[in-house]
Amino acid sequence: SICFLNGTFQPLADARISPLDRGFLFGDGGYEVIPVYSRRPFRLAQHLERLAHTLEAIRLPNPHAPSEWSGIINEIIARNPWADQSVYLQVSRGCGDGRNHAFPVPIRPTVFLMSDELVTPPAEQLARGVAAISAADFRWLRCDLKSTALLANCLLRQGAIDSGCVETVLFRDGFLTEGAASNIVIVKDGTMLAPPKSHLMLPGITYDVVLELAAHHGLPYQVREILEDEVRTADEVWMTSSTKEVLAITTLDGLAVGSGIPGPVARRMYDWYQEFKN
Ligand code: PDD
Repeated sequence: SICFLNGTFQPLADARISPLDRGFLFGDGGYEVIPVYSRRPFRLAQHLERLAHTLEAIRLPNPHAPSEWSGIINEIIARNPWADQSVYLQVSRGCGDGRNHAFPVPIRPTVFLMSDELVTPPAEQLARGVAAISAADFRWLRCDLKSTALLANCLLRQGAIDSGCVETVLFRDGFLTEGAASNIVIVKDGTMLAPPKSHLMLPGITYDVVLELAAHHGLPYQVREILEDEVRTADEVWMTSSTKEVLAITTLDGLAVGSGIPGPVARRMYDWYQEFKN
């Protein structure tokens, strides 16, 4: 596939960066994953706004204006073979001369994009839902930033894989935060409940779409803090992300969620999402 590295489009296999890159040494950078349907990036403006928020918060000057980002993204889409893609974009704080926690002067960011075929959940997972485990959310207190420092998320996701599951649902101080790489919403008595955006979770683009679709279609919903016990006794639990879209979690820690199959509200939201994304 074709990637973009610091101004140059090239085969991914040929791309080279320095081991002194702070993305490598420190996980010092921000990123986005942008879904592409029929060669059109989905919710691009929102992804670029979130990137700008991340970069500003980590004091990394945004190397491109939105129109430039959009040009690079459209070109990488055009240069790759798939109609549906997931574009990965990352900006790191580049290299210093040696390893030094303090920022280099000047900062020369490394800009890297690659793309792959977008693989959404297979029919079998859509039909049956997926299994998840839960874990204590031991990440830092800026989970609102899409930082490339994902060690905690990797450990938490691997915990799910090791248990034969797809995702880990995170609780902090007795409240739902999100998943290891997704947002989590639940349904109780026909009302969709979503945790409020805060420094404890990533403001998901898919999460926003799901709330907009609920409002648009008249599905009752509330955005409020959700107790761990409410998740365990919910009628439905879903994960949302740019690559999973809307996916029902039907088993949590080995126990059935609701009736143990994707619920009616999940099915409706999935259909609304499919209709909306095209
Ligand atoms: N992850 N929360 C976390 C911790 C995430 O990593 C993600 C996405 C989300 C969902 O955000 P969105 O709806 O904007 O995709 C929530 C991406 C897909 C990843 O790291 O691969």
